[in-house]
Amino acid sequence: MRARSQVCEALLFALALHTGVCYGIKWLALSKTPAALALNQTQHCKQLEGLVSAQVQLCRSNLELMRTIVHAAREAMKACRRAFADMRWNCSSIELAPNYLLDLERGTRESAFVYALSAATISHTIARACTSGDLPGCSCGPVPGEPPGPGNRWGGCADNLSYGLLMGAKFSDAPMKVKKTGSQANKLMRLHNSEVGRQALRASLETKCKCHGVSGSCSIRTCWKGLQELRDVAADLKTRYLSATKVVHRPMGTRKHLVPKDLDIRPVKDSELVYLQSSPDFCMKNEKVGSHGTQDRQCNKTSNGSDSCDLMCCGRGYNPYTDRVVERCHCKYHWCCYVTCRRCERTVERYVCK
Ligand SMILES: *[C@@H]1O[C@H](CO)[C@@H](O)[C@H](O)[C@H]1NC(C)=O
Ligand SMILES: *[C@@H]1O[C@H](CO)[C@@H](O)[C@H](O)[C@H]1NC(C)=O
Ligand SMILES: *[C@@H]1O[C@H](CO)[C@@H](O)[C@H](O)[C@H]1NC(C)=O
Ligand SMILES: *[C@@H]1O[C@H](CO)[C@@H](O)[C@H](O)[C@H]1NC(C)=O
Ligand SMILES: *[C@@H]1O[C@H](CO)[C@@H](O)[C@H](O)[C@H]1NC(C)=O
Repeated sequence: MRARSQVCEALLFALALHTGVCYGIKWLALSKTPAALALNQTQHCKQLEGLVSAQVQLCRSNLELMRTIVHAAREAMKACRRAFADMRWNCSSIELAPNYLLDLERGTRESAFVYALSAATISHTIARACTSGDLPGCSCGPVPGEPPGPGNRWGGCADNLSYGLLMGAKFSDAPMKVKKTGSQANKLMRLHNSEVGRQALRASLETKCKCHGVSGSCSIRTCWKGLQELRDVAADLKTRYLSATKVVHRPMGTRKHLVPKDLDIRPVKDSELVYLQSSPDFCMKNEKVGSHGTQDRQCNKTSNGSDSCDLMCCGRGYNPYTDRVVERCHCKYHWCCYVTCRRCERTVERYVCK
């Protein structure tokens, strides 16, 4: 039975590779779009890599959005690598888009994070593009209904979150809405995690203010609703990644749902990331399970977090090497008004995992 299900999985995987069943986040390959592609004509849409036909259609009908979506793909990759730089799984494999390895093809905790982050990023980027006036189809977000607080007034340009969420979800969820492809459980997992990403983005909307008044007296403050920086949203999602819930696809009522594996009695929460398959510990290289291993990864001898040599190297030990860093030093302030510095070279000891 077990052997058979493994054969099935292998078959599904082979199918996925050859027919593009698992299209979910392949659109991140847009990050490789050559700058020379002007993206100002609908026939450019089919030259883009990693899109399902519904996304090509969206490209044709919303051509003016595509530069922003290409930018979002780049931002998502950057945010993922930055958020996981200190982890054994460091998101470097996202660069392989659209041909991911098993760490991102299967229903893993890592893929849960990447789906959520990608969904949050595309909506974030579109909402921000509205604010900066880069998109003809949208303008500043609405003025909030509540009063802005004493001494404050609403002004400036709010991030148009609703437009970002609408267009972002249309584009990034399109592959999961394709009928009769891939497993239902995987589709549900991907849609759920994408929604968690958008929820984290909604939660990041905050009131931002700027001071006005005579010589910075701040007698009047202009406020607007703005989104937090993407790296903060990514950090929030990383926390959810660390506490993600393993789920199974099981009948509940008339339909099958994702329900927590260990604690069958509650439905999945809208705020939690879910995954179907456990990940390896990522200590050793093993392509069959999507592990890249931590050999030659840099570790931090004085940290006690996940980048510590102990945790990063999985107890295998580490090798020291010396590195030169060039810094500005002996800086001197000159009246008035400049600073001069010298360049100093310093050697630092660094460590890489055995
Ligand atoms: C598209 O952009 C290219 C390069 O900027 C320009 O040469 C071309 O005329 C544009 N085409 C249209 C239809 O706007
Ligand atoms: C953006 O926000 C404004 C409110 O200022 C709203 O009227 C508009 O429909 C929103 N969407 C777009 C596409 O501008
Ligand atoms: C991320 O991990 C991979 C695989 O272990 C490694 O090759 C790569 O150098 C790492 N990247 C960074 C920035 O540490
Ligand atoms: C190592 O970790 C310590 C403690 O967290 C931190 O202060 C230091 O900047 C880190 N060093 C490097 C090279 O990242
Ligand atoms: C590292 O250790 C210090 C002191 O033992 C502790 O206060 C701190 O919370 C630890 N940090 C982590 C990330 O475990």
